[in-house]
Amino acid sequence: MPDKKVLNIVGARPQIIKASAINRVLRRDYTEQVQEIILHTGQHYDRTLSDVFFEELEIPKPDYNLGVGSARHGKQTASMISGIEEVILKEQPDAVIIYGDTNSTLAAGVAASKLKVPVAHVEAGLRSYRKEMPEEINRVLSDHVSTLLFAPTDTALKNLIKEGIRPDAGPPFTIDNPKIFLSGDIMYDNSLFYGELADRKINGFLDAINTRPEKYMLATIHRQKNTDDIERLNTILKTLIELSVQNDTRLVLPLHPRTVHALEKENPALLLKLTKTDSVRLLPPVSYLEMILLEKNAAIICTDSGGVQKEAHFFRRPCLVLRAETEWTELVKNGTAVLVDADSDKIREGFLKMIKSNDLSYPGFYGNGKAAEFMVEELMAL
Ligand code: UD1
Ligand code: UDP
Repeated sequence: MPDKKVLNIVGARPQIIKASAINRVLRRDYTEQVQEIILHTGQHYDRTLSDVFFEELEIPKPDYNLGVGSARHGKQTASMISGIEEVILKEQPDAVIIYGDTNSTLAAGVAASKLKVPVAHVEAGLRSYRKEMPEEINRVLSDHVSTLLFAPTDTALKNLIKEGIRPDAGPPFTIDNPKIFLSGDIMYDNSLFYGELADRKINGFLDAINTRPEKYMLATIHRQKNTDDIERLNTILKTLIELSVQNDTRLVLPLHPRTVHALEKENPALLLKLTKTDSVRLLPPVSYLEMILLEKNAAIICTDSGGVQKEAHFFRRPCLVLRAETEWTELVKNGTAVLVDADSDKIREGFLKMIKSNDLSYPGFYGNGKAAEFMVEELMAL
């Protein structure tokens, strides 16, 4: 009988992908010692945002799915807290693992900490210093109820120290004596593990979508700021379409349902244009392996996603960040990512500069590819 029980909590697409790295290590090395319970809040429920990742990444089906679905932030987070609390009371885990900065992260952090169950936060310490961004509130609050804080980068570690978390804490670690680790990034682990697999397993995917390597820009857009403000969304999409037509560079656009819904409601003509323009390939959200293949072969990547910015770096592609700031500041300092906001001049200028540059370098900011192993070892020692 395993002597530890951990509750692995996911809800949104990137969390499922992140959790796969921990699940892989637990199944490979710790089945005797640890019982893993997987809880899905149901924040993402479309097949293309959820089930597809469980299947492709071979993550066991969640033991619990709370099925909370979409709602306003307060209502959604409240039903998650209530559901997670029930599961924690029933399962009595020794620790709860949370990922990133979504409403599911916050809900799990609140529920577990109030029940005095230690929280391990994967991707701790990221900051945009913009509380208008819902994720910023989720990150700050989640970090401050955590016992183990796994900072992926040096900047993240320093951010936590600035907020008063002591870098020299010794065991026993508790919510009042938390421990920060510079752990590396679990998504880097995944990019190494799945990068090669993508080439082998689905190498026909680019042909299937009629797209040639290096001849396209890959774009994703889903942030609240870029979807709820239709002017920003219009500017971004119109500029990307223009660039694709003028530069004979296909625009490949796997679009989050949130963005599709915003266009359906506010600008159906632009949505139609995306489907009718020859140089644009509009897609539903793609699987992780498909996304990796798209990233690896893109001439340039334009995104407001946190994960995709880093993957551009992992796969050595230049990146335009469709935001005014980023949590992954090392990418901008390094010159491989450029902040272009939703500003058509900046997007154009960034595109023309970055697509031509061949002197970019991609240093290893994100650890040694064994972040998940490290995190599980520290969890075992808790
Ligand atoms: C959420 C996270 C964001 C993360 C993103 C990853 C929060 C506050 N935001 O944003 O940090 O980067 O996930 O993708 O937690 N919808 C569907 N089908 C689904 C899920 C959502 O159509 O399966 C649509 C609904 O219209 C919903 C909207 O997307 O209202 C927004 O979904 P929500 O989960 O609130 O936020 P995301 O934008 O997905
Ligand atoms: N991703 C995917 N399919 C897509 C778009 C993204 O598999 O159509 C992956 C991407 O490779 C990355 C993660 O989803 O690993 C990023 O998630 P998202 O952009 O939704 O959220 P964020 O990282 O901004 O929180």
